[in-house]
Amino acid sequence: MNAVIEAIRTRRAVRTYQSKPVPRDIVNVIIDAGNEAPSAMNSQPWRFVVIEDGEVRKKLLKAALPNAKKILESVRESDPARYEAITKRLNELPDPVYYSAPVIVFVIGSGRYAHHSCPLACENMMLAAHSLGLGSCWVGFGSMVTEDKEVKRILDLSDDETIFGPILLGYPEGYPERPPKKEPTVKWV
Ligand SMILES: Cc1cc2nc3c(=O)[nH]c(=O)nc-3n(C[C@H](O)[C@H](O)[C@H](O)COP(=O)(O)O)c2cc1C
Repeated sequence: MNAVIEAIRTRRAVRTYQSKPVPRDIVNVIIDAGNEAPSAMNSQPWRFVVIEDGEVRKKLLKAALPNAKKILESVRESDPARYEAITKRLNELPDPVYYSAPVIVFVIGSGRYAHHSCPLACENMMLAAHSLGLGSCWVGFGSMVTEDKEVKRILDLSDDETIFGPILLGYPEGYPERPPKKEPTVKWV
């Protein structure tokens, strides 16, 4: 099969990682793939912050976890199955937000085109990672760190910027099954 289609079909959100570090030149190839994404008006409204440091990862987790728990409460009634699954992860894993991934890439965007364009950079990165034998996961819970002054300083995050992702990267420890996907709704005219 065509390699791109194959990568799109087989990429999965990976939530278990080996502790083995990811070489920086590989992370750079993945970031370059993100940087090649299309963007409205070719605005390229993104920048990248790569977190490898263990102490910083602990600070991120401390900042994100209470917010992840709050959001989770809001789906308790509307989506009980998802609530149960995520609660299990929160209770059992040492790092239920960033899944102890060795690399966390914050994609940070600003300006009117960021919301349309930055997710394309994220998807390019996840596909590139997959094609290189790495696992990846967009962890929205992991973006909920913006109330923490120290984390904001580490990310150089200003008030007009938004975090997309972050995107976890690492060598997978096991590979997830394809979750159920709906058939596309398509109208041909
Ligand atoms: C915007 C966005 C936010 C996400 N946030 C999380 C998250 O916080 N934690 C998590 O484990 N997975 C997160 N995911 C991954 C999705 O759960 C995953 O993509 C989905 O279940 C489909 O699985 P697949 O990526 O293997 O096809 C997120 C994905 C997207 C696109």
